[in-house]
Amino acid sequence: MTGFIRHIPGIKDRPREPASGCKGIGVIGLHEGRTLLVGLERIASARAVAGCDLSDEKLAASRAERPELFYTTDYDQLLARADVEIVAIYTPDASHGEHIVRAFEAGKDVICTKPLVNSVVDAKRVLAAARRTKRRLLVGQSTRFFEPFRRQRAAFERGEFGALELVDAHYIHRMDWYYAKSPWAARDTDWVFLGLSHPVDLVRWYCGEIEEVHAFGSRSALGREHGLAGFDVYVVNLRTSDGRIARAMGHYGCEELPAARNAIELVLYGSRGTSLAQYHDMRYVHTADDGTQVIEDPLYALRHWYFNSEVHGMHYGEFANYADHFARGLLDGTPCSPELEEGLETFCVMEAVRRSAHERRPIAVRTVRNEVFA
Ligand SMILES: NC(=O)c1ccc[n+]([C@@H]2O[C@H](COP(=O)([O-])OP(=O)(O)OC[C@H]3O[C@@H](n4cnc5c(N)ncnc54)[C@H](O)[C@@H]3O)[C@@H](O)[C@H]2O)c1
Repeated sequence: MTGFIRHIPGIKDRPREPASGCKGIGVIGLHEGRTLLVGLERIASARAVAGCDLSDEKLAASRAERPELFYTTDYDQLLARADVEIVAIYTPDASHGEHIVRAFEAGKDVICTKPLVNSVVDAKRVLAAARRTKRRLLVGQSTRFFEPFRRQRAAFERGEFGALELVDAHYIHRMDWYYAKSPWAARDTDWVFLGLSHPVDLVRWYCGEIEEVHAFGSRSALGREHGLAGFDVYVVNLRTSDGRIARAMGHYGCEELPAARNAIELVLYGSRGTSLAQYHDMRYVHTADDGTQVIEDPLYALRHWYFNSEVHGMHYGEFANYADHFARGLLDGTPCSPELEEGLETFCVMEAVRRSAHERRPIAVRTVRNEVFA
């Protein structure tokens, strides 16, 4: 992010395009995907050109905010457009595999929201299509791109925490509203992919390759009410091959959290320092060299970027940040993170967690990795 833009929505002084160009983005799935159509107004390296959804209501809502774009109910029409260089996918979890493969086959690069895929079959299809078509993909792991998590990462890379000794991440959120709007959440996926993808990705971002997971799962009263087949409460211990350990936790049926806690939190325990990043309060807490606890709270400075100056909990800024990261990576030919193989690694960890919770035993991640990368 460079400088502040104070007038959103309806930015008057759109930043100039970078010298290397500006990528056209077509979005499929206009519920969460509408956030990207609007959020792209913040950046110069990419622009929205088209939107696709099966629902006329969703198309109308996006058209009201971005009337100048091309809209269709037919994904093939979006894929046929030359001005769509990147396809951004926000359809239900179980459709990601098919929509990624079709975009690759049409010669497009892809942004896919989390979770990248939710089955071994789709993981293998997507990998094979990427190798065949040589297209690139970024996984939209939004939490990495939220301000406190960016500040925490920069401090980690400056060596402020020393060697990491424990990583602790959670995402906790009562989801009755989600079942009401997206019935597929109870039926066609598992909360290990839909929700726990945030903390599992954060753990992997810091720990790298995970060797083994030991997960416990249970079903909340809310989950039982919605006929959930899998679990919606997870506690997971993770271990790397060099012996570092981490924990990921998720609860998708709980009552409201006490205000002191945030839906997503990441605590890094290092040999020289400890720090906490939070979503959605936009707080980053760490310890200065003299022992002073420092609370960085940029909510009022940056809420126009992350939240469109309205409620907490939207993703405009994170989506704009990752679209900018990927578009610049494509324009400059530089690597991005998390790209496809890293996303598939995270999928392997999540699938190992799912199996561990159901089989009630630790699982070596390589058993899933061998199935996906064979
Ligand atoms: N933090 C984040 O990054 C974040 C937040 C919320 C959701 N998500 C992810 O975004 C995805 C969508 O979630 P949501 O909450 O918007 O779900 P949703 O059910 O509200 O919306 C999905 C949309 O996709 C459309 N759709 C489905 N199949 C289609 C097809 N074949 N062609 C065109 N449109 C189609 C539906 O009509 C619907 O409007 C999920 O994978 C979810 O995990 C990510």
